[in-house]
Amino acid sequence: MLLGVNIDHIAVLREARQINDPNPLDALGICKFAGADQITIHLREDRRHIHDNDAKAIIEQSPLPVNLECAIDEEIIDIVCKLKPSRATLVPEKREEVTTEGGLNLNTYYTKIKKAVKKLHDNEIEVSLFIDPTKEMIELSSKLKVEWVELHTGTFANVYAMLNSNLSQTHHSIEELELPKKVLKDLLHKSRKDIKKSAALAQELNLKVAAGHGLNYQNVGLISCIKTIEELNIGQSIIARSVFTGLEKAIKDMKDLV
Ligand code: PXP
Repeated sequence: MLLGVNIDHIAVLREARQINDPNPLDALGICKFAGADQITIHLREDRRHIHDNDAKAIIEQSPLPVNLECAIDEEIIDIVCKLKPSRATLVPEKREEVTTEGGLNLNTYYTKIKKAVKKLHDNEIEVSLFIDPTKEMIELSSKLKVEWVELHTGTFANVYAMLNSNLSQTHHSIEELELPKKVLKDLLHKSRKDIKKSAALAQELNLKVAAGHGLNYQNVGLISCIKTIEELNIGQSIIARSVFTGLEKAIKDMKDLV
């Protein structure tokens, strides 16, 4: 299973202070050394974490292929074509969202997406569509002749968190907070089955399959064992854990200096 590491979350921390520390560029060598297969970043329309100069430097200097997530906005697609990452993942984007909520609606935006895919292909950039795991979205992806689909695992991850952890700490798309365990277990089973069935259909239609969103050290095993998924893109949980796995050395280094 390939692992793409989403390093946006390093830029989120930097933006809290609006200085150049921590610099996501410094993560590239560590990601490679640690065995990651890909760097994933998201150039948002509002540039709230990754900026144009980050994207440029990361793509130029990364020892790993770069997967650049972006909206189906003409201006952004033109920038992506100039930046030339190995892959562009088209994602839905809302300014008010905390993170990417739900997959791209390939029905509503079919013509716009088709145009974006053509432009990216003309610039020799392979394309992935971040979609909900449904038959309809897979079939439309195949019609759009993209190389990859990335299945949104957010519903699965949210239900998993509702079953196994403190709900108040999670953002979730399921309305009812007080669902009985049995219902949550059924929902978890269904959301995983949707992912598995969609991945199998995508593979049958010659699409390469990635998945991501909300995957963490507890829930990843239930997804990584699905053989038809080739790659996972994970960010929040890796960067969150690195705070704690790196904290002891960071304090010791400072203690030596003071
Ligand atoms: N894949 C896509 C397309 C995403 O938008 C995100 C979120 O930035 C991820 C994967 C990673 O999600 P998380 O940060 O929850 O691991």
